[in-house]
Amino acid sequence: MGSSFRARSLRHVLAISALAMAAPLAAQQAAEAPVILAADTAGTPEERAASMLAQMTTDEKLGLLMGYFGNDFLQYEAPEEARMGSAGYVPGIERLGIPPQWQADAGIGVATQGGAEVKRARTALPSGIATAATWDRELAFAGGAMIGREARADGFNVLLGGSVNLLREPRNGRNFEYAGEDPLLAGVMVGEQIAGVQSNGIISTSKHYAVNDQETDRGNGNSVIEEGAMRMSDLLAFQIAHEIGDPGSVMCAYNRVNGPHACEHPFLLTQVLRDEWNWPGYVLSDWGAVHSTAASANAGLDQESGYGLQRAAWFAADKLQGALDAGEIEKERIDLMVGRILRSMFAHGLIDDPVEEGQFIDFETNRAVSQADAEGGIVLLKNEGGVLPLLANARRIAVIGGHADAGVLSGGGSSQVYPDGENAVPGIEPTSWPGPVVYYPSSPLEELRALLPDTQIDYLDGTDHEAAAALANQADVAIVFANQWSSESIDVSVHLDDDVLIEGVANHNRNTVVVLQTNGPVLMPWADKVPAIVEAWYPGRMGGAAIANVLTGAVNPSGHLPATFARSLDQLPHPEDPQPGDVVYTEGATVGYKWFDREGLEPLFPFGHGLSYTEFDYSDLSLSRAGDGIVATFRVTNSGDVAGADAAQVYVSGEGWEAPRRLGGFAKLSLDAGESRLVSVAVDPRLLAMWDTDNPGWNRAAGSYTVSVAESSRDIAESAQITLPARHLPPEWRPH
Ligand code: BGC
Repeated sequence: MGSSFRARSLRHVLAISALAMAAPLAAQQAAEAPVILAADTAGTPEERAASMLAQMTTDEKLGLLMGYFGNDFLQYEAPEEARMGSAGYVPGIERLGIPPQWQADAGIGVATQGGAEVKRARTALPSGIATAATWDRELAFAGGAMIGREARADGFNVLLGGSVNLLREPRNGRNFEYAGEDPLLAGVMVGEQIAGVQSNGIISTSKHYAVNDQETDRGNGNSVIEEGAMRMSDLLAFQIAHEIGDPGSVMCAYNRVNGPHACEHPFLLTQVLRDEWNWPGYVLSDWGAVHSTAASANAGLDQESGYGLQRAAWFAADKLQGALDAGEIEKERIDLMVGRILRSMFAHGLIDDPVEEGQFIDFETNRAVSQADAEGGIVLLKNEGGVLPLLANARRIAVIGGHADAGVLSGGGSSQVYPDGENAVPGIEPTSWPGPVVYYPSSPLEELRALLPDTQIDYLDGTDHEAAAALANQADVAIVFANQWSSESIDVSVHLDDDVLIEGVANHNRNTVVVLQTNGPVLMPWADKVPAIVEAWYPGRMGGAAIANVLTGAVNPSGHLPATFARSLDQLPHPEDPQPGDVVYTEGATVGYKWFDREGLEPLFPFGHGLSYTEFDYSDLSLSRAGDGIVATFRVTNSGDVAGADAAQVYVSGEGWEAPRRLGGFAKLSLDAGESRLVSVAVDPRLLAMWDTDNPGWNRAAGSYTVSVAESSRDIAESAQITLPARHLPPEWRPH
């Protein structure tokens, strides 16, 4: 079977599914009782799912519990009805009007599997960590809504993103897909993205549940972490994302957690997710993350994904039937699993507003969404001596390296979105999994030339260090582009390949600006030698324009770090490279800035840090109690000469915590020069408490709490105290 685009109507697909799925018994039943089609059921999603279940044969039920890889792979041929080169496909049931589930990756846009012959050209957002760096909920929602629109237009009704694993390990090769190191920031930003995706009447998936915080040995590695610490870190990020986004599905992860694999983990899949959080959706597995039939089903896994990418098929109908016959799985368990899948399909619009592929995509609008996200997420890390913004009357600028003449870098793996036209820099190794390395055709060099028409802007690729230094020598400003490629399935070095190039250029031009495109935090041994550093992450389809706009001041930078940048590896809780086997998170919930604060370490750039071309002042902080939590009210003033946006941060401190301070809330606000605004930020009561394993729930001790408003976790502007009584919140507590 070829991998050419398979354009088929929904009706045709359903007919094929019906032939494959409907057993003779179904036909017999159909003849006996009038069938109510899914679309004609009435009531709540739960009631509609129950009516469907009542009509289904066992074979029909079992068929909904296993998915297929959507791309040919070695000897495996993807089902004809799968969408070309996609992550997955779960057959529907035509007899009952239940459509297939067409699954696509994911977090930055509609991806195509690397092995597919024809790549879908779709709009790529900046990486997940870039979106987190905006600290802007509206941008996160808009990005999700954009992806969801394109997914729907391509006939996908299940999207496999929001990725919310915490950044515990700067070498984790998937940090670019995630949303940084703080459970509140990550949970809020990914929750908004999920809500945005689902605003299109499709399902979004939170992943990779849970503590899948490195790629080394991801299929078998065991994340060892104390329960309370897990509740206050990685699980809290998921919990908050769920409260905001209400994803229709959750993807359990490849790794093990305190022993069992995440996809056969009763504590994670049943106790926490269902019994405590009351989440009503279904759990699907990561692709190849299932290791058993009955144990997984009974632990709370509802659907196995991606048969064909791996050989297992633990949820194949014959295996499930065998487990039923042997009494290892109860019939009620199967009904529960199927019921959850159906409920999500009803609740999120898959039945009432079915997708159809080949719909119109408004690329112009979607590119604008991507560019706004990139511009909001670029972080100005350092700016001394007024090097930036670049002056329109600069005589000569030298642009060096990073393929800045051609485009901007993206991250690899299943989330890879392919651009229209060609990869701007083809042929870089690896050209197949975990590659290809893809550059989007948005050249920072060309965009700079367009914005600064009176400036001579020369370019060298940076491979010849002497030539680069000589060019820098003749220029007023030198801009070095330094990139770090990363991908799913690998962990990466945080040493940049271009450290020597940067030092060489800096030695020949004291106005050297470094623009980074990285997976996440990297080391910068040259940081003291250059006056300006810009972190652009993987900036997406319009990245070149976004970078040029920030460098020239057409856009005032407003991104802030969602993760700490260490000075050296020995500052980290785990200085050694990621290892296979047991990964013992002795630091527990003391992740990122919390670790640096507790250990009294001076990072290179702290969590929350980000400069602007203007200045923001804070004043008039007052605190009040509100419900179980508190509200901080304060004034933010733009005291500089240009308009800008501020990410105002509220930190909280209490006695006996895992760290001196936690992010308690934040607000992104745009202010004209001289403008001042009163802002109120609510602090979630769980962030004022410790998880209590003996008496499960959130325990807040009576006492005095410090609340600060800040420009970063290390740049506190004003603090105040509030006295709070003791309070115990049950595990199921959630904001109203
Ligand atoms: C990744 C998932 C992805 C899936 C389907 C897996 O390898 O870990 O994030 O959704 O593949 O492509």
